Amino acid sequence: MRPPAGHTAQETAYGKLNLSLDILGRREDGYHELAMVMQSVALCDTVRCDFYEGGEIAAESDSPYVPADSRNLAWRAAEAFFRAVGAEQPGLSIRIEKRIPVSAGMAGGSSDGAAMLRLLRRELAPAFSQGELEAIGASVGSDVPYCIRGTTALARGRGELLTDLPPLPPCTILLCKPDFPISTPELFGAVRVRRLRFHPDTAGLCRALEAGDLEGICRRIYNVFEDVLPRRFGQVLEIKQAMLQLDAMAASMTGSGPTVFGIYGSPEAADRAAEVLRRDFRQVYVTRPVQGNFF
Ligand code: C5P
Repeated sequence: MRPPAGHTAQETAYGKLNLSLDILGRREDGYHELAMVMQSVALCDTVRCDFYEGGEIAAESDSPYVPADSRNLAWRAAEAFFRAVGAEQPGLSIRIEKRIPVSAGMAGGSSDGAAMLRLLRRELAPAFSQGELEAIGASVGSDVPYCIRGTTALARGRGELLTDLPPLPPCTILLCKPDFPISTPELFGAVRVRRLRFHPDTAGLCRALEAGDLEGICRRIYNVFEDVLPRRFGQVLEIKQAMLQLDAMAASMTGSGPTVFGIYGSPEAADRAAEVLRRDFRQVYVTRPVQGNFF
């Protein structure tokens, strides 16, 4: 169970988008019952880990927005891993190269936590199953189990009940993050499920993915949080409208935002739209879907 001191390992942590996000109800445990179609994108962080003698954890990042303490989900994932396997924790020095926007609705922190779990499993407990690792992930955060397997999946329950789906057909994805954070608990708190005016056609979206029908997928992309966004976050809907006017096949906020993504049929069309958005926004990225189970 103990890797040699001085050993270093690394793992890629991909960003995620919500092709759909539906809230079905509030649960007894305070969480919400969700139905979400998730998609990994190529925009990624790198999580590196040096193993040492002793049992201390340290974390650092090239981004000032990544916490260097136990609020860091890679740190928390490491603690949860050693608790679950019942092994003594070695010293760990975690370094995160951050490229996924922070506090963006792209599960950047959850993905770092998931990458940490995959890395520790690979190095220390290869007999661990995907299900066992996802159960540890669920104790770290609702999006972590999905981030462990990545690619395209339907997430239900708190987000931890996962069904693999066929991949999003090849396309180009434009991302634009305005410069304010949106609090996830605050946004969940604004939802009155019976008052939501629209719900995504999750079953139809899954069928369109099965059929590899990109236009059908695009017609069904929807996030219920857009319906309850406080007025002060109106820029999110302006970015969405801008992307649609700039030839996106679909555009939506991802997760609890504020990042907006647009689906484009060609890299050229996405690049043209990116150039326009960069006049007003600092965080604009062109990326693509990634496929293949990460586990
Ligand atoms: O599980 P995680 O810590 O990532 O969730 C962050 C917050 O998002 C929770 O404290 C809760 O307010 C909200 N949440 C929810 N229902 C879910 C997932 C998250 O209400 N299914």
